[in-house]
Amino acid sequence: MVLLHSLILSASVAALAVLSNAAPTPSDSMTIKPTPTAHREPTPTATTEPNPGHPHAHTDACGVLASTNYTELKYKHVVDCYNSIPFDSAQAATALSTVLTIFKDYYVFTDSALARTVPEPFADAPYDIVGELEKIGRRKYTSDYKFHNDILEAVTGLGDGHADYQSMYLSVRVYLDKAKRGYDDCIVETINGEDALSYLRTYARDVFGVSHDPNARLNFMLASQSYDTASGLFTDYPGGFSQRFTVPQGPYLDYRLKCPHKADTTELREEWRVLPQIKASYTDAASYVANICMEPPVTIGPPAESGPLRRRNEPVHRITKRAELEPTPPPIGPQFPGADVLVTGNATVFYHLKNQPNTGVLVCYTFDPSDDAAEKDVILAGLKAFHAHNVTNILVDFQGNTGGSVDLSAFLVQMLFPNKNPLDAAFPCDMRVSKPLQNLAKLSYGISDSSFFDAHEYINFSNGTAVYENNDLFDKPVTLNRNGRRSLWTEITTLKFPPIESKHITPVASFPWTANPENIRILTDGRCGSACGMAAYFWTALHDVAAYAIGGTHGEDLSMFSFAGASVMEFSALQDFYKSADLISPLTGLPYKNKITFPWLEMYGHGRTTPLEYDAELYRPRHRLGFTPKNARSREVLWKEVAAAAWK
Ligand SMILES: *[C@@H]1O[C@H](CO)[C@@H](O)[C@H](O)[C@H]1NC(C)=O
Ligand SMILES: *[C@@H]1O[C@H](CO)[C@@H](O)[C@H](O)[C@H]1NC(C)=O
Ligand SMILES: *[C@@H]1O[C@H](CO)[C@@H](O)[C@H](O)[C@H]1NC(C)=O
Ligand SMILES: *[C@@H]1O[C@H](CO)[C@@H](O)[C@H](O)[C@H]1NC(C)=O
Ligand SMILES: *[C@@H]1O[C@H](CO)[C@@H](O)[C@H](O)[C@H]1NC(C)=O
Repeated sequence: MVLLHSLILSASVAALAVLSNAAPTPSDSMTIKPTPTAHREPTPTATTEPNPGHPHAHTDACGVLASTNYTELKYKHVVDCYNSIPFDSAQAATALSTVLTIFKDYYVFTDSALARTVPEPFADAPYDIVGELEKIGRRKYTSDYKFHNDILEAVTGLGDGHADYQSMYLSVRVYLDKAKRGYDDCIVETINGEDALSYLRTYARDVFGVSHDPNARLNFMLASQSYDTASGLFTDYPGGFSQRFTVPQGPYLDYRLKCPHKADTTELREEWRVLPQIKASYTDAASYVANICMEPPVTIGPPAESGPLRRRNEPVHRITKRAELEPTPPPIGPQFPGADVLVTGNATVFYHLKNQPNTGVLVCYTFDPSDDAAEKDVILAGLKAFHAHNVTNILVDFQGNTGGSVDLSAFLVQMLFPNKNPLDAAFPCDMRVSKPLQNLAKLSYGISDSSFFDAHEYINFSNGTAVYENNDLFDKPVTLNRNGRRSLWTEITTLKFPPIESKHITPVASFPWTANPENIRILTDGRCGSACGMAAYFWTALHDVAAYAIGGTHGEDLSMFSFAGASVMEFSALQDFYKSADLISPLTGLPYKNKITFPWLEMYGHGRTTPLEYDAELYRPRHRLGFTPKNARSREVLWKEVAAAAWK
């Protein structure tokens, strides 16, 4: 058991080493992709050392940050600038009131989070998000950073990968400095003097908020591989522990390593490396606030996209390699000698195992391709290619897929298990209702372009597959008491899905694996979020497909997926809905240009009464696997292990 723990950790160290020589490059982009590794850090304390020498004679800490060459940026530059930004109580009151209203009246899981007990693999204590936010309102602040970070912490405490509060301080990214020093496969014995595994488990439990399962959180934190569409390769990703989006507690981490072929242990003090994500358009604290944090001129008008299904209801995108990471060297031949690539798209790749020629591996690394329709053709082409190669067994690799289009997810589900009834791949759903939301829904009825709250886009479960012909869904809500909190809800409904075209569904009917759970397996590491979790739920719970879940902690359960049961929206979209309906939003707004995302529609497993997000039983896999240095570094090795275990 100790060895397996160590192996999991060593994979992390290996991936860190890959980043070692990366020359950081400042990026021009102001866009900060929401991180799939939402987490909270205790607020750092101000540093007192004098500035390291540099040519600019700035006395303002943010001026120093802006004018220091990125190659010389240190932890303290960031901390000092952030700590120098004064707290503005009027602005803070506005921001807090907005966040409070969202979590009181719009967030779907406010009541579910209050549950007294949760079954394994979840390990949540009851969580009162409204109470936590109210506590912030009663606290005295001097630091603006601390205030925003406390809101982030409160939201992170929900363990909901869909709920996120970005403080505008996320624009500086921090890495562990790594030089290639030959530490691959060394065992990490301690971190900051504590047993390494307990240190990481504590961090995963207390600081990381992307799943209700601490072992799935651990997988999000540790290094892993992700598929890179541009290069067509699986590349190393350092994970949320060694790549932070908020300021870590101290300027460095201390590691003790035990390396093979070495009698002594190695002590390492690893300083954080700072990688700016925006061009420094500020020269002091005041211009940092004005140019980086404050709201730009208000844009008016409804959002460009339309309809709840056609939107990307997904804040957590797949991990993309960024400009500052060292490009992976071009491959010398294919990445895997034993697995041929048959078909590639922008969300899926189809591999054929040479030594197990009846096995095809369908890697689905995101549900967020640039073009859903084109990807559907790719999926059909991939399945046809499997058939042409005499494949009978399919392994679906979902590792690192943090979701995307619900429509594409439902499509993939049905390409392996075609619907018997029209709504087989639809989720029973409901939504929170409040008076201002009812007003919005009234004006949105029949105009789906203007908001998500158009009853005509939802199906009346009591009337076959017909959509609502009036606004009763929102006008006649029901009162539910959940965990001691009473709220208004819509009745159970579901989103209107476009039917799958016969050009897609007809050819798959005769494939040997179609509707045959014995011939299909899922491989996941719990980092299968949102739309990915929905697909995994359908196959495992309704079609009896077995899943192999890898990683986490040896001997403990591990979720197959995370944050599976909700559709997510950005706060600004909600404001736009009110605006385009000519209504005054009950939400004040945000003084800063920051982004809040939150789930607004929750889903249920079929015949279940607990929302899927909290229905822990449905998250348990049938089989467990552990990472080894070999299978952590090569998907081919891993696929062969699973195929051998699945189809003896
Ligand atoms: C930052 O430092 C690097 C290495 O010392 C140097 O090559 C680069 O020109 C410097 N950049 C700026 C903007 O001064
Ligand atoms: C994948 O993305 C590339 C680049 O954006 C695009 O040219 C190509 O058409 C896309 N393919 C599919 C199947 O969507
Ligand atoms: C598939 O099986 C058929 C019949 O056994 C055989 O003729 C064909 O060569 C095989 N195709 C491939 C690509 O192996
Ligand atoms: C849903 O359909 C049922 C059965 O046709 C009908 O009785 C009910 O009024 C409908 N609900 C709404 C809100 O239209
Ligand atoms: C049921 O759906 C049909 C359309 O399929 C519609 O004409 C009818 O009004 C609906 N009934 C109710 C009660 O909503």
